[in-house]
Amino acid sequence: MTILVTGGTGYIGSHTVVELHKLGFDVVIIDNLSNSNSLVLDRIEHVSGKRPLFVKADIRDLSALNNVFKQYDFESVIHFAGLKAVGESVSQPMQYYDNNVVGSLRLIEAMEKAKVKNFVFSSSATVYGSPERLPLDEECKLQSTNPYGNNKLHIEQMLFDVCKSDPNWSVIALRYFNPIGAHESGMIGEDPRGIPNNLVPFISQVATGRLTELSIFGNDYDTLDGTGVRDYIHVTDLALGHVKALELFVEAVGFEAINLGTGNGYSVLEMIACFEKVNNISIPYKICGRRPGDISSCYAKANKAFDKLGWKAKKNISEMLRDAWNWQSKNPTGYN
Ligand code: NAD
Ligand code: WQD
Repeated sequence: MTILVTGGTGYIGSHTVVELHKLGFDVVIIDNLSNSNSLVLDRIEHVSGKRPLFVKADIRDLSALNNVFKQYDFESVIHFAGLKAVGESVSQPMQYYDNNVVGSLRLIEAMEKAKVKNFVFSSSATVYGSPERLPLDEECKLQSTNPYGNNKLHIEQMLFDVCKSDPNWSVIALRYFNPIGAHESGMIGEDPRGIPNNLVPFISQVATGRLTELSIFGNDYDTLDGTGVRDYIHVTDLALGHVKALELFVEAVGFEAINLGTGNGYSVLEMIACFEKVNNISIPYKICGRRPGDISSCYAKANKAFDKLGWKAKKNISEMLRDAWNWQSKNPTGYN
């Protein structure tokens, strides 16, 4: 069985390709390398024993997409390709709508034409905005406060409408909580460009000495120690969730949105303490003001993933932070 993976050289995509290979799938990746490095292909091959086919193309390029669909017989598509920096989406909204929403629209068009109608979409817990209740279940109100989150909402809505118009479509929108960590081999991992926005890549770069100290964005939230609480999930667990989603496509399922999280929340201070303990490295930090747009707490109700996909996150926070450091210490400057 051959799967098309858009954005497959990126952080979550590369880990998913490894798990697909391990289970015997063939993979074709489409990526424009706007936020990834083709060296990932060597690393995927090293880890999984198989090299994915790679097409360097932009998903907004309909003729490139049509050619790929003509060339291969795909069972399903897993769609990771997209821009993901919330702050950048606020300053460059049209770039985000074009890349993420128009890109997804083109992909759906090409799939329609090729009659490939099984689709796994990278959605995000960001579609819940400021949580109306915790833990967040899939029925919680959808709202977003930034263009990136709005992109995810628009794409989910588009996919919902496509499924409604044609019963042969099956779409699973996986709403990820906070993916962290790296493949246990330390061969693939997250390689942010510039100064990381996210907590764990930032902590990891402080640990290497590349950054001097972590700024904690607020210690006056209504949480156990005042710092923000999130549901961190190991990227390999997340990758396995996608493989499980493909198994659901034995029959048409319409549109389903499913949370991928652990159900547990950890504060920033707990994350620092755990990183220090498992890796035996001290992380200097200072307390700063809140980051605009941040929420206090966010964690998933993960029951639907278990009921529908038979999937449950297995790796704990120590394993996540051990693997994050294993990757960073073996690749202090990422893939370069
Ligand atoms: P990433 O940036 O590492 O991977 C995305 C990949 O898509 C990159 O390789 C990039 O080059 C490629 N890409 C971007 N625009 C493209 C285009 N127009 N055409 C072809 N390729 C394109 O990001 P990631 O963390 O692996 O995220 C994957 C998906 O998961 C994204 O859609 C993201 O919004 C979503 N997501 C990520 C997180 C997270 O915290 N990492 C959380 C929730 C959802
Ligand atoms: C986690 C916690 C910060 C950095 C973002 C996107 C979301 C999703 C995942 C794609 C918060 C605190 C962070 C730092 C800190 N992406 N923090 N110092 O904000 O939950 O989610 O990434 O869909 O859409 O918004 O993740 O890792 O940035 O922050 O104190 O230098 O760490 O305030 O409490 P977030 P994060």
